[in-house]
Amino acid sequence: MAKEITPPQLLRGMKDILPTDQPYWWKIFDLLRVTARDYGFERIETPILEATSLFTRSVGDLTDIVQKEMYSFTDKSNDNVTLRPEGTAGVVRSYIEHGMLNLPQPVKLWYFMPFFRHDRPQAGRYRQFWQFGFEVLGAPQPVIDAQLILAARSIYRGLGLDTTVQINSIGDPASRTQYIKALQTFFKTKKSELTDEHKLLLQKNPLRLLDSKDAVIQDLLTDAPQIVDYLDEASRAHFVQVLEYLDDLEVAYVLNPRLVRGLDYYNRTVFEVWPTGDEGAQSSLGGGGRYDSLVETLGGRPTPAAGFAGGIERIIMRMKEQQLPPAPLDRPEIYLAQLGEPARKKMLRLFEALRDVDVRVAESLTKDGLKQQLEVANRLGAHYTLIIGQKELMDDTILIRDMENGIQEIIDYKKAVAEVKKRLEKNRASGTTPVTGMVQPERLERYQAAVPDDTAEEPQVNQVGDHDE
Ligand code: HAM
Repeated sequence: MAKEITPPQLLRGMKDILPTDQPYWWKIFDLLRVTARDYGFERIETPILEATSLFTRSVGDLTDIVQKEMYSFTDKSNDNVTLRPEGTAGVVRSYIEHGMLNLPQPVKLWYFMPFFRHDRPQAGRYRQFWQFGFEVLGAPQPVIDAQLILAARSIYRGLGLDTTVQINSIGDPASRTQYIKALQTFFKTKKSELTDEHKLLLQKNPLRLLDSKDAVIQDLLTDAPQIVDYLDEASRAHFVQVLEYLDDLEVAYVLNPRLVRGLDYYNRTVFEVWPTGDEGAQSSLGGGGRYDSLVETLGGRPTPAAGFAGGIERIIMRMKEQQLPPAPLDRPEIYLAQLGEPARKKMLRLFEALRDVDVRVAESLTKDGLKQQLEVANRLGAHYTLIIGQKELMDDTILIRDMENGIQEIIDYKKAVAEVKKRLEKNRASGTTPVTGMVQPERLERYQAAVPDDTAEEPQVNQVGDHDE
């Protein structure tokens, strides 16, 4: 008996990005490209795989990411390597390694890359996920923090998402140490209410208690000391200025004293973007802040810096929830339909000729039935269908069918390219065909209803004879 083969399956927490989802990705990417250009960012891509030490030194040994979530292994050269869990460390490595310290500062870099964290998968949390990120290296000024928030806000707004900016300052390392002590002292008086896990956190990484979801901790936190009261003077002044810029531009934000972020490299300003109405760091659409010591920590010249990154899958999830439109689908101007092998040969050639003159053309060269092909043309939203049947083959003509009104005309095959070009240009000038060749909103519906409609009227194809199926 033949052995049953188990088909391969996605790894847990991984996701295929199927063709139906691509319009969301195009829309976000296009918006990012334009936004990055406007704010003066240049694109960078760093390798997926980096030395493990890059992340232990930057993200921090005691963070959840390094302790629990990294895909780390020893490769065949015996090097300890990690699938990057975030983008800032790699960008800083690249900045140092390529001597970007010697370029005019600040250096502004943006990215759109996949990341890996072996976390417990749930809605909006994957083990491979994509982030866009903006990093500004070589500028200490608070105006940078404010402009990063503006750039981030402009992206979420541009997509139509309702979001709230949460902001806090965690000061310099010395003020943070003082605050951590105060927090530990406070929680020590509440020890009886803490679980063993909380006690461990209190010892190892007390700041993480601040974003605990635990109801008891939440309750205790109402009376806990707040980090703003421990800020050093310079950090306080910096923070006040950031907020002044935001106030000046009437950017709404929530001062969130518990926002500390889960990565060690931050200092001073930290912020996150949350979906409005679903407040909670678990569904954060993005986060960032200052990391003025990171370049130095990784061996570069002291270089102040700040950045932000947003999660693409979470953005798409929210866009779907809010029923926000993805990018309109690309629509062909011309569709080619043929009946029989000699006609197919002519269409194979015509397809190339039309592409050569920049006509957006589509085909179904594997199909024979005319009805079937016209259905595809309709589904794709093609403006015209060119048809070669037996009669056209004999006369060396071609039938041009206007898919909007069903009107058909016979034209000379040899003049087909010129004639098509002429019509499309005329239509473009009069606005009948979208210049971009994208499906207009009112046609999207037809495009998305990919199921052939049996009740649709039979196409009028009498002129080409009775060669349908
Ligand atoms: P992060 O807060 O760890 O920051 O991640 C930024 C965003 O990535 C999150 O707000 C979320 O939208 C998305 N994200 C994180 N983990 C997952 C996951 N498992 N599945 C889906 N989406 C996820 C950073 O990574 C910093 N490098 C940001 C930064 C840039 N700071 C300065 N520059």
